[in-house]
Amino acid sequence: MSAGVKEPHAVTLVSVDASGDPTARVLILKDVSPEGWQFASDASSLKGRDLAARPDAALN
Ligand SMILES: Cc1cc2nc3c(=O)[nH]c(=O)nc-3n(C[C@H](O)[C@H](O)[C@H](O)COP(=O)(O)O)c2cc1C
Repeated sequence: MSAGVKEPHAVTLVSVDASGDPTARVLILKDVSPEGWQFASDASSLKGRDLAARPDAALN
């Protein structure tokens, strides 16, 4: 935000399912800490199920 980037909290999160098929979607990033990335969502969503089964992801 201090650098003047517009919408600095809008990110694309890519998760993969158990077969390795990726899915990308836009999220609002709430925080970044040594523990990882924090965003609000529903554990029963596709991303929630993907990350529960396979906690590998990319964030842009
Ligand atoms: C600008 C924008 C911000 C969004 N922020 C969130 C968010 O913070 N959390 C969330 O669960 N979905 C958010 N969504 C909706 C997701 O992109 C996605 O459609 C939804 O979470 C379902 O994803 P999934 O079925 O792949 O799990 C946002 C969408 C847009 C366009």
